[in-house]
Amino acid sequence: MKISNEWSPDSWRRKPLRQGIAYPDEPALAAALTQLGELPPLVTSWEVEKLKELLAQAARGEAFLLQGGDCCEQFADCRSEPIVAKLKILLNMSMVLTYGAQRRVVRVGRFAGQYTKPRSSDVETRDGLTLPAYRGDLVNRPEFTAAARTPDPALLLRGYERAGLTLNFIRGLVDGGFADLHHPEYWDLGFVKFAELSAEYMKIVGNIAGGLRFLETLAGRPLDELQRMDFYTGHEGLHLAYEQSQTRRVPRRSGWYDLTCHMPWIGNRTCQLDGAHVEFFRGIANPIGVKIGPKTEPDELVELARLLNPANEPGRLTLIHRFGAKEIARALPPLIAAIQRTGQTALWCCDPMHGNTRSTRSGRKTRDFQEILAELDQAFDIHRAHGSLLGGVHFELTGENVTECIGGARGLSEAGLEHAYLSNVDPRLNYEQSLELALLLAHKMAGADSAV
Ligand code: PEP
Ligand code: CO
Repeated sequence: MKISNEWSPDSWRRKPLRQGIAYPDEPALAAALTQLGELPPLVTSWEVEKLKELLAQAARGEAFLLQGGDCCEQFADCRSEPIVAKLKILLNMSMVLTYGAQRRVVRVGRFAGQYTKPRSSDVETRDGLTLPAYRGDLVNRPEFTAAARTPDPALLLRGYERAGLTLNFIRGLVDGGFADLHHPEYWDLGFVKFAELSAEYMKIVGNIAGGLRFLETLAGRPLDELQRMDFYTGHEGLHLAYEQSQTRRVPRRSGWYDLTCHMPWIGNRTCQLDGAHVEFFRGIANPIGVKIGPKTEPDELVELARLLNPANEPGRLTLIHRFGAKEIARALPPLIAAIQRTGQTALWCCDPMHGNTRSTRSGRKTRDFQEILAELDQAFDIHRAHGSLLGGVHFELTGENVTECIGGARGLSEAGLEHAYLSNVDPRLNYEQSLELALLLAHKMAGADSAV
């Protein structure tokens, strides 16, 4: 029997699914998905296409992609302070990166829908009791009780709503002038106590503001295009039934759009060529990311790029590599060479977080600022040395004063992690560490030999 190659929003159901979720109440799941399908989209196809265009520019070296936000957003963080704090740090980093890269920065937040997680095991055992693992607030709750850990379809609707509330607030802030380049004072440096960091940041902001005034004087009017910075949204498209429920055709465009966010990505654990995730993603029109790691083979990458971007459309595919500081020099060059050989178009982006995770002696998951920086530093050099281009970065960060990653200007130690370790999953850079990293990257991109 010939297996049909035809794509439909549910054709992924015929493929092997990794990281699937076992809902005990199937009728309730079906009802929740039907309801989700009837609700309006969270983003529009115009925005999605605009982002694709910007990512095509980033792949050509005319813009730079900044992706950042929580490893896993919690519903409890759908409050004004954490949302504003996240926007602020992304705006601060954008200013610094724009200055260093001399390119427009495209912001894609890991927010307004980053609610599901892949896990190394489906279950967790504590004191002889085995329960389903916590899979993110869209699926279940972190408390270790049978009630909290049972996948609950109602959470799909709660997640959609929280994503909508978050987006509504972000759009309101941006439209109201919060992200206006003329008013960088709106994004004051909340938690930055380090005088050198804030002095360097203020200098850059002053230079940009001066440049903007100069351009506007020349033009004789305010430059609309430069007025403010926009935000796009992205999350790991792990929960395919959720993604499918918001995937639709739109008037006057061909193709299907996944309108849960602008740029979903395939996680490293679910990027198998014959798997359900690749099947779903190949058929949607959004710009998409795929996380590639130390085990990705060159032939496999070429095939992935062919499946996910058969028309070689600029801006469609972002390859987010996450090897770890120790592996990148070995793993990256053959992948760059393979993509160059086939002439495939992709935007290369470095995630220096997920290959550098380790556990402390007391069992905390952490990442070392120095290793994060070392992977980034090498990523720029390796791409340049191989005639390629690193066009973006992907971070797990928060605008708050957490203590989850060690190192940075404040020299956070392992013992210091206990002070404010709030993540339920991966450790995030805090406000100061994020700004420091952006400043070091800016130096690197401005042509300094090494950021380290
Ligand atoms: C993540 O982005 O949180 C994640 C799980 O990453 P990866 O798929 O690269 O391991
Ligand atoms: Co993570």
